[in-house]
Amino acid sequence: MRTDIAQTVRLEDYRPSDFLIDRVDLDVRLHPTATRITATLSLRPNPKGRADAPLTLDGDEVSLKAVALDGRALPESEFEASPQSLTITQPPRGPFTLTIETEIDPTSNTKLMGLYRSSGNYCTQCEAEGFRRITYFLDRPDVMAVYTTRIEAERDEAPVLLGNGNRVEAGSLEGTSRHYAVWHDPHPKPSYLFALVGGRLGRVAKSFTTMSGREVELAIYVEPGKENRADYALDALERSMRWDERAFGREYDLDVFNIVAVSDFNMGAMENKGLNIFNDKYVLASPETATDADYANIEAIIAHEYFHNWSGNRVTCRDWFQLCLKEGLTVFRDQEFSSDERSRPVHRIAEVKTLRARQFLEDSSPLAHPVRPIQYREINNFYTATVYEKGAEIVRMLKALIGPADFRRGMDLYYERCDGTAATVEDFLAAFADVTGRDLSHFARWYAQAGTPRVTVKGTFDAAARTYRLDFTQETPPTPGQPTKEPMAIPVALGLVARDGSAIEAVSDRVNAEGVFVLDKASDSLTFTGVSAHPVPSLFREFSAPVKTILDLSNEELLVLLRHDSDAFNRWQAAQTVAMRLLAARSTGKAIADSDVADLATALRAFMETDALGDPAFAALVLTLPSEADIAQDIGRDVEPDMIHRARKEMRRRIGQACIETLRHFRDSLSATGAYSPDAASAGRRALRNASLDLLAAADAALGETLAREQFETAGNMTDRLAALSTLMTLPGDAREAALARFEESYRDEPLVLDKWFTLQAMIPEDGTLERVKRLMEHPGFSMNNPNRVRSLIGSFAMLNQVQFNRQDGSGYDFLADIVLRVDELNPQLAARLLTSFSSWRMMETKRRTHAKSALSRIAGKPNLSRDVSDIAARSLAEQQGQ
Ligand code: PHE
Ligand code: ZN
Repeated sequence: MRTDIAQTVRLEDYRPSDFLIDRVDLDVRLHPTATRITATLSLRPNPKGRADAPLTLDGDEVSLKAVALDGRALPESEFEASPQSLTITQPPRGPFTLTIETEIDPTSNTKLMGLYRSSGNYCTQCEAEGFRRITYFLDRPDVMAVYTTRIEAERDEAPVLLGNGNRVEAGSLEGTSRHYAVWHDPHPKPSYLFALVGGRLGRVAKSFTTMSGREVELAIYVEPGKENRADYALDALERSMRWDERAFGREYDLDVFNIVAVSDFNMGAMENKGLNIFNDKYVLASPETATDADYANIEAIIAHEYFHNWSGNRVTCRDWFQLCLKEGLTVFRDQEFSSDERSRPVHRIAEVKTLRARQFLEDSSPLAHPVRPIQYREINNFYTATVYEKGAEIVRMLKALIGPADFRRGMDLYYERCDGTAATVEDFLAAFADVTGRDLSHFARWYAQAGTPRVTVKGTFDAAARTYRLDFTQETPPTPGQPTKEPMAIPVALGLVARDGSAIEAVSDRVNAEGVFVLDKASDSLTFTGVSAHPVPSLFREFSAPVKTILDLSNEELLVLLRHDSDAFNRWQAAQTVAMRLLAARSTGKAIADSDVADLATALRAFMETDALGDPAFAALVLTLPSEADIAQDIGRDVEPDMIHRARKEMRRRIGQACIETLRHFRDSLSATGAYSPDAASAGRRALRNASLDLLAAADAALGETLAREQFETAGNMTDRLAALSTLMTLPGDAREAALARFEESYRDEPLVLDKWFTLQAMIPEDGTLERVKRLMEHPGFSMNNPNRVRSLIGSFAMLNQVQFNRQDGSGYDFLADIVLRVDELNPQLAARLLTSFSSWRMMETKRRTHAKSALSRIAGKPNLSRDVSDIAARSLAEQQGQ
């Protein structure tokens, strides 16, 4: 247990390390409960550090066996050691070598940080501060060293031994059952990118020729017998490598690139140099076990981790406050990759849906923080939607502001200047300022100021003058620690649409060649000239900035955009906005005119009849109404989840009934032919067909049940089978329970498929669900130690079941609090993540708010909490002072 009380780390306190480490030689003798590590560190005083400082190395639950300085065993009088640190009181003034022997127990490591075991295999996770759980070290990203790692193990237990870089030696230990391998990574790196793996693993591989003609061996290691499920990931890796060469001129820099899939992992995956370690959920796929969404996630995450090789590894972060430097940029890069490989508008809509569901929610919660935070108590709690997703939006806005050509030149300059260094957000922006000659200091506010700006836009048409004026105002609500806000530099991509769909050739000198107007003041306006008829403005095309917009457009005008806008994103957005207005009104007890719902239904039907089959993936998105959580966020205060649920259900029923013929037609005409293929076009047809099934079931339960049962029985792939089961979940009764039992029977030995089964049940919006979830925790396939299991059952209940988690009697909150306290004893990171499902508690009506507060207080008051959980609990409860 950590004994230190939560200390706050501040950006303003950054100072360079007093010592540097040039080389690290590790000798790791793997043993299930007593692994021995001998670390030989080549140290020297940092010319930028303090001259006479002691040397203090970080540790975390390590036990020290021996320490020597330049080969001389140190007597106890010359150092101080605890599980958390090792201090050499009077280190030499010049270069020296420190040899440290530690012992750790990987089997009892349930935190999944440092060296641990998963399905019997050894693996490591070092970001952010896990290396100190292996040996004492200057465990901070601006200390970069060249690593050589010798790994030794029982040959039977761990026939495969992997490390960072290239393998330089391997062999047996004469006369023993042990063997070893030596890996050398020539690229200096921070300790968080260190990794090793030892175990029994199957392998798939192919070779790749880089743009300069070098041969690289690509390999993916998985549980033996699952090799054929890694083919798609391997293909995605090859496509990612090719794309980064094409799109950014970035080439891979080692002879091998290894990926290992493990079943126990706190996050999605990790970009360790030359040895990525993945949650197996983001590697393994077959048509029978994975859905289209799984394939898309695998492609995106494989790309993300590979792209880190440049944005993260070659150029790393000076300190953890700069996390968005690698994460925001790399998310932007993987989004661009997926957009190029799939459909750009469809992918953009998916990105924005996630951004709103997760980041806008965070921004409006007590956990709101800037993309570059200025303080933290536990860095693990800052791997957030804000750092990742909003961080990516900043890069996207930068590209919109300076244009694609200068953006690429800026990226090249950034890599050229910062290669091999630990950089800052300032270094990143300086590259773009230098290639464009622009002052980006105002733009930089996006990194510092938290909260989602609200932009209000009003349009005025002057028929006599043939002008159309747009008046903009912006405002950002207060967030913790930031009571008042400055205006942001907001790129508004826009255009005008005529009501009959014809093109409008209006001009304004405030709009640049890319169609972007920059709103950088609290209020501003622009005027188009030569406008002959009252247009409908299309604003924030492609979602050009992460803001909320308030438009003075009527529903009728928005439906013109759905029909005629040349920007696909805004066509989708228009339908969403109309639906949201109606849903929010209904959910707060306001009357809405029947004709308003009818108009939306008519517009959707017209859209389906004329356009849907041209782009089924897009059509499926248009047919999907805002989620219950989206509606809650839109309402923002005194939220009544049950009213939202009823309003949405009713609206889906009415739209389904109005479109029933078209929906039936889609069901028939989009039927699968031939073998399953995960490509975006085939996935899009399945998405529309399955969205149609779900709406049909909303319109006519009996018809829906018949169709869904039939599809469940006959489906030839997991996408269609799971979609049918998901529709059945909305229809209480025997058919649903029978299908659940069948599914369990078929996939009892497939943990990743069972996760989907847990999730669907946890999401049932009925009173019995909490009991069902508790029952499922006793299921043999469930384990509190496995993060995927916990997230799929309990995480889904808390994050995706609005009505049952937010039960008015508070039992949903109490349940989650119990679980958080239990999980905290095993895996604090996982517990803290689960706890973030309370981030909307202040939005709820009083009864729920009171229950949530007492559940949170119960957690906060428990002694011996991990730093992870106590930090989230304390911030969630903090009065929003200064607001
Ligand atoms: N750096 C990883 C990624 O974004 C995420 C991660 C963070 C994984 C911390 C493990 C621990 O790809
Ligand atoms: Zn990342």
